Amino acid sequence: MAKLIIFNFKMAPASLIEAREIFEIFNKFSKKIKSNKLVVAPPSVYLSEAKEKIGDKCFLGAQNVFWFNRYSMTGEISPKMLKSLKAQYVIIGHSERREYLKETDAMVNAKIKACLKDNLKPVLCVGEKERRDKDSASSISVKKILFEQLNHALQGLQIKKPSDLIIAYEPVWAIGSGKPQDLKEVEKIIALIRFWVARRFSEKLAKNLPIIYGGSINAQNILSFLDLKEGAGVLVGGASTNKNELIKILKKL
Ligand code: 13P
Repeated sequence: MAKLIIFNFKMAPASLIEAREIFEIFNKFSKKIKSNKLVVAPPSVYLSEAKEKIGDKCFLGAQNVFWFNRYSMTGEISPKMLKSLKAQYVIIGHSERREYLKETDAMVNAKIKACLKDNLKPVLCVGEKERRDKDSASSISVKKILFEQLNHALQGLQIKKPSDLIIAYEPVWAIGSGKPQDLKEVEKIIALIRFWVARRFSEKLAKNLPIIYGGSINAQNILSFLDLKEGAGVLVGGASTNKNELIKILKKL
């Protein structure tokens, strides 16, 4: 089955020249990729360059969006601006934005609504901050954290088609730590999220909604995460802008 691989560049690389080199890598190595779907989400200042350079096998994503198409909002980027650059995906509610920019659940909810209104696909990030023993999936507090995040983020929303939304399970402790969540736990937590989706929306949506995993994905472990039965793909952070690691990843897909 085709899997979704989203590359979140975060705030890297530091220059347009380096960004171009990375886009060329995507262009070159994505040509042979048949079934998997690649989404490149660079910093917004590089989006238009990415659109020109990543090639037609890769799709474009943004790392943030404002929740209105209004004029008076210094420094922000509107859904319509992203649409005009042919971006299709937007990462929303990443733990780094929640923590350092104080992005609240209400903001996350408003951003998802804005995306759906303008036909952008939100990639909603959820995940617990601390590692709970080994079996996170049976931890009541992990379940509570995830369900609360989902409840708030999707409050008042009707998700009709599985292609309208992507949920990314990103345990915060696994991000940038070199220690990904255990594969079996990821499988169980994705199943837990599907259970929530079935209760809140429908069984049918729960079965088909793409739910992906993010946190310390690299060339060595990516295939095992892509093989997960319950999982629809991965969200890659650091490895997206590390040229050697990126080439190794793209060669494996
Ligand atoms: P790392 O792959 O660097 O752990 O980052 C994951 C992430 O935050 C992707 O959104």
